[in-house]
Amino acid sequence: MKIFKTRDYNDMSRTAANIVSAQVILFPKSVLGLATGDTPIGMYNQLAKKCDQGDVDFCAIKTVNLDEYVGLAREHEQSYYYFMWTHLFNKINIKRENVFLPNGQANDLEKECSDYEAIIERMGGIDLQVLGIGCNGHIGFNEPSSAFTKNTHVVNLTESTISANSRFFDKKEDVPKRAVSMGIGTIMQARRILLLCSGKQKSEILYQSLYADIDPIIPASILQLHPNVTVVADQDALSAIV
Ligand code: F6R
Repeated sequence: MKIFKTRDYNDMSRTAANIVSAQVILFPKSVLGLATGDTPIGMYNQLAKKCDQGDVDFCAIKTVNLDEYVGLAREHEQSYYYFMWTHLFNKINIKRENVFLPNGQANDLEKECSDYEAIIERMGGIDLQVLGIGCNGHIGFNEPSSAFTKNTHVVNLTESTISANSRFFDKKEDVPKRAVSMGIGTIMQARRILLLCSGKQKSEILYQSLYADIDPIIPASILQLHPNVTVVADQDALSAIV
């Protein structure tokens, strides 16, 4: 595991964008696994800038997102579909047909989950998976549990995740209670993982994820078993470690 310690959020975003850019430049047909949330927004801004300057070309890149809320229309401002188009896809030269997110409005969610796994498999798997981490250690929407989940599945969000995400909604009751998420198994099959983390409020969970026992109660702790993880975190997030 490589850990890059950065000064602050901006520095984390630039470093992460450089790593993703290197992947795209060296392997222009890569499959990128992408995350939403506050953490990767700065990195997406940097990637958009690099694309605009002609330094990085996304025309042959494919993307799969980690997760999506159940029940939100794609046009809903808090859907992850809307997030990704707003923060990244509208700003880079990616092809619409190369972008994949779970459909949280599918009538048959079980089928949606197995179809999503099949899409990833058909692409040949994920070359580089970008992850954020929740304050409870979740990755994707894989919440603390008694067992690691395997494939893409429907998740009941925990109270702590609903509370954390209520900052994006008018009121807490508006936060969807369920989501479709790649499983821990899906994430672990990615060839490379890039975990981003910023802020003091994440320092304890980052420490536990990287150094405590591997336990599904801290889903991110499974990353200790992945052969190719790069952590890019600012000094606040790393303050419990170094
Ligand atoms: C988002 C996702 C989540 C977030 C996590 C951290 O697609 O999968 O696991 O990465 O909740 O969110 P932020 O970055 O908002 O702290």
